[in-house]
This record gives sequence, structure tokens and C-alpha cells, in this order.
Amino acid sequence: MKEERNSVRKYWGQYEWSNVRTMIKNSMVDPEICPEAFGDRLVVITGATSGIGYHTARKYASQGARLLTINRNEEKSGALCEEIKRDFGVACDYRIADLSRLTEVHSVGNALAEMEAPIDVLIHNAGLYLSKRTLTVDGIEMIFAVNYLASFVINALVMEKLQAQTAARIILVGSEGYRFAVWGLRLNDLNWEQRRYTGLRAYGASKMAQLLTMLVFHDAFRGSGVTINAMHPGMVRTNTGRDNGLIYRWYKRTIIDRLSKSPEVSAEALYYLGASTTLDGVSGKFFNLTRQEELAPPARDWEVAEALWELSLKMGGLK
Ligand SMILES: NC(=O)c1ccc[n+]([C@@H]2O[C@H](COP(=O)([O-])OP(=O)(O)OC[C@H]3O[C@@H](n4cnc5c(N)ncnc54)[C@H](OP(=O)(O)O)[C@@H]3O)[C@@H](O)[C@H]2O)c1
Repeated sequence: MKEERNSVRKYWGQYEWSNVRTMIKNSMVDPEICPEAFGDRLVVITGATSGIGYHTARKYASQGARLLTINRNEEKSGALCEEIKRDFGVACDYRIADLSRLTEVHSVGNALAEMEAPIDVLIHNAGLYLSKRTLTVDGIEMIFAVNYLASFVINALVMEKLQAQTAARIILVGSEGYRFAVWGLRLNDLNWEQRRYTGLRAYGASKMAQLLTMLVFHDAFRGSGVTINAMHPGMVRTNTGRDNGLIYRWYKRTIIDRLSKSPEVSAEALYYLGASTTLDGVSGKFFNLTRQEELAPPARDWEVAEALWELSLKMGGLK
């Protein structure tokens, strides 16, 4: 607790409150629409069997993209590819991976790294929200493992392949919820063993972690054709949170979902960020839908980002 209070003090003075007002304004604006076709290029999307990922897969397919989706459910993945081929006549394939399991994350990351075809856009979308602390089979807190660590490991494994391509875009589906982690990250308690766990705090921390190492990836990609950006997909009606108890599910259905937009809005934004030539070379940025925003101070802490990078290599079994 004391450490968190110190961190809040550390960042407090760096906040520019106009940025928070901008974020609130941006949340009411529709995304830019990209009129450019994607053409016969490849997009890889994680968690495409539901919500934002599903609508994003359809949007890319409607613009001519070839699709590779990475999901945990075989039946839903097969049905999605059938639907995409039927509706848009483009190629669609999938790989099954439970992204909470490091062995499966490694095998999907290695498979992507070994692919001959270039990956033009890689969208890390799979994610979840849990109100109760849960551990993965590897003993890692579940939200951190799925929302953050899986994408970190996959990015690290595909780094060389992407750098050898002429161009590639990585997009992290993040959340304005990273702002819940106002104290920054507690690097010595990423697993929530020493503090009271709440879903919001753990969710905020996972999305904060994603932004911090995005900065390190961005630095590592300098001079190559690879860009990496993160985005908030809006507050949209999806299946997120359905693994929680009755009270949360009631609250989501009756309050959150009523205030939320259709996930097609997020799909438009993700298409713009992946396809629009106006973003050629833009990297290391955070977008609220398609509006670029300044990151809050704890998400710009380079010292923490580098320390988290090292920890993530170890936790992710890369070191
Ligand atoms: N909805 C919002 O308002 C909102 C706001 C901000 C950020 N986001 C972010 O948007 C992303 C997509 O969420 P959503 O709202 O579209 O939720 P969703 O409808 O629940 O979709 C989540 C997707 O992730 C997959 N997934 C979950 N755990 C997985 C695991 N262990 N391994 C592999 N795949 C897994 C799900 O697979 P199954 O179909 O098998 O369950 C599903 O395809 C998340 O990163 C979320 O944090 C959402």
C-alpha cells in the first residue's frame, strides 16, 4: 500500500489534466473510416470468435484480406472461417491456442515466426475481465497472462520475422482502463499476491503493462518497416465479463451494455489503424479508436518499461 501511495505521488505532478479532458471528448467521437482496400494481404487476429475480434475479422475480410485467426475454441473457429469464406470469398484459416497457457502461446508464436508469407497486420485482441483472482496453469494471474503476457511473448517470437519484411503493423487492443492503474505497475507483485485484488485494478495493470513494453518494442523496431501501436476500442457490447458471477453479469447487462456501442465501431477503428496509409510509419502511439492520445505518466515510465521487459522475458519463458 505504502509503495502504491509513493508511486501515485511520483506520477501525480506529471499529469496534464487537459489530456484527461481530451480522452473524455474522444470517447464520444466516431472513428475515422478508411476507404482503402486491404488487398490480398494477411491479417492475423487473436480472439476472433467473439465481440471486437469477430467484427474486425469480418471488416478485414470485406476489404479483401486473407485471414489467420488465433482462438481457443475449435468449433467457433471453424464456423467463423466458413462464414468468412461464404460471405467474402477470401482465404481464412485458424490456429487453436489457449493464450493463458505458455506452452500454447509459444507454439503459436513459433508457428507465426516460421511462416513464409509476410504478416501484414497482427492484431492482439484476445482478452478478458475477471472480478475474482484466478491463476493460470503456469501459476500466473489470468488477466495479466491473457491480456498482456501472451501478446508480449508472441511479439518477441515474431520480431525477427517481421523485421525481415518490408513492412508490418502490430496493433495491441488495449483499453482506457489502463488509467485505473494510477499508481503504475507493482513490478514485485505482478501476480497480486501481496495486495487486494480487484478486477478493475488487475485489468488496468494488464493494459498498462501492454503500453509500457509497447514503448520498448517500438524502440527495438526503429529503422525497420515494423510499427507497433495500441488502441482503446471504445466501450462496446461484447461477451467480455461473462465468466464472472451473477451480480457482475446483471450489472453488465443492465448498465454497461446499455451505455455501450456496437463492436462494429471498434472494427472500423482497427481497420483504419491497420490499413490506412495516413498511418504509414506511425509507431509507439496510443489511439482512442482512431484519435491519437498522450499516454498518462505511469505508462510513459521508461525505467519501469525496461524492468518489465526483463521480467516478462522470464515470466514468459523466453529467458
Ligand atoms: N468491450 C469493451 O467495451 C472493451 C473496452 C476496452 C477494451 N476491450 C478489449 O477488447 C478485447 C476484446 O474483447 P471483447 O470486448 O471483444 O470481449 P469478448 O467478446 O469476450 O471477446 C474476447 C475474445 O478473446 C478470446 N479469449 C479470451 N480468453 C482467451 C484465451 N485464454 N485464449 C484465447 N482466446 C481467448 C475469446 O474467446 P472465446 O470466444 O473462446 O471466449 C474471444 O474471442 C479485449 O482485449 C478487451 O480487453 C474491450
